[in-house]
Amino acid sequence: MKHLISLLNLTVDEVHEILNLSRDLKAGWKRRERPALLQGRYLTQVFEKPSLRTRVSFDAAMAQLGGTGLFLSGQDAGLNGRESLADVARVISSYSDAVVLRTFSQKLIEDFASFSKCSIINGLSDDDHPCQALTDILTLQEVWGEVKGKRLVFVGDGNNVANSLAMITSMLGMSMTVCAPRDFELDEDLLQAIRLSFPHSEITQTSDPAAAVANADVVYTDVWASMGQESEADKRNRIFAPYQVNAKLMAKAPTGCLFMHDLPARRGKEVTDEVIDGPNSIVFQQAENRMHLAKGLLVWLLH
Ligand code: CP
Ligand code: NVA
Repeated sequence: MKHLISLLNLTVDEVHEILNLSRDLKAGWKRRERPALLQGRYLTQVFEKPSLRTRVSFDAAMAQLGGTGLFLSGQDAGLNGRESLADVARVISSYSDAVVLRTFSQKLIEDFASFSKCSIINGLSDDDHPCQALTDILTLQEVWGEVKGKRLVFVGDGNNVANSLAMITSMLGMSMTVCAPRDFELDEDLLQAIRLSFPHSEITQTSDPAAAVANADVVYTDVWASMGQESEADKRNRIFAPYQVNAKLMAKAPTGCLFMHDLPARRGKEVTDEVIDGPNSIVFQQAENRMHLAKGLLVWLLH
């Protein structure tokens, strides 16, 4: 039984398999094909946090491939202590072919998987967002063909989205620079784990946005206050203000440098309208690709 809990649990070949399936399914979708690859399959989505892209893209992916499913809040599923996690996992997984979990704790997803009879997908935790990072590579492959050797510069908070990007760029031979204020960089433990598996990984960290973007092929940002950090928003807005991705910063990047964002965006905070709506922004291609990646991932997990 296969899961997607963290990208570091996959091999590079498996990452390519998921990306290739997603690309093929997108090409078929454009030809209006709706192959019933998941007919009779059932997906349960259990989310402790809000979601637009993850929830709807998995739902659409199931429907278009002949499957079906259900969404439950964490509370409705009983993750609030109504019963034990083990019991919730055993019961939900006995009805489902796969479960997407969106949680605060990464460990909750790992524990759920240990009791599960079906495939578990990490739909975002405080530490990781593997479906997003896979989608981002699918999107960059569409634009560039080959991603190996390309330079991704992440400007912002070094948490879940940046963590998953650090893993996947190292797996695929890209270089990544994380440009964050002090105390918001990637954790040293994560960097060590990545370097253990991928000794040639090229991840650098800096606090200087202008220097960071000077050689970028793509600049990526994410919200300054993630879900669960709303009470810190004012403080974070002050700390991250010099890290806004605006036209002035993008002018310091090479011509043609792309802009990416996982969305939702706080326009006027981490990114300005002129950048996110500008000609080099590929954010809505990214967002659409969440559905194509969900299809490729589900087919990979369930076949
Ligand atoms: N990018 C992303 O995961 O979006 P949602 O929070 O809307 O699912
Ligand atoms: N870092 C953001 C990502 C949202 C998709 C958050 O966790 O809220």
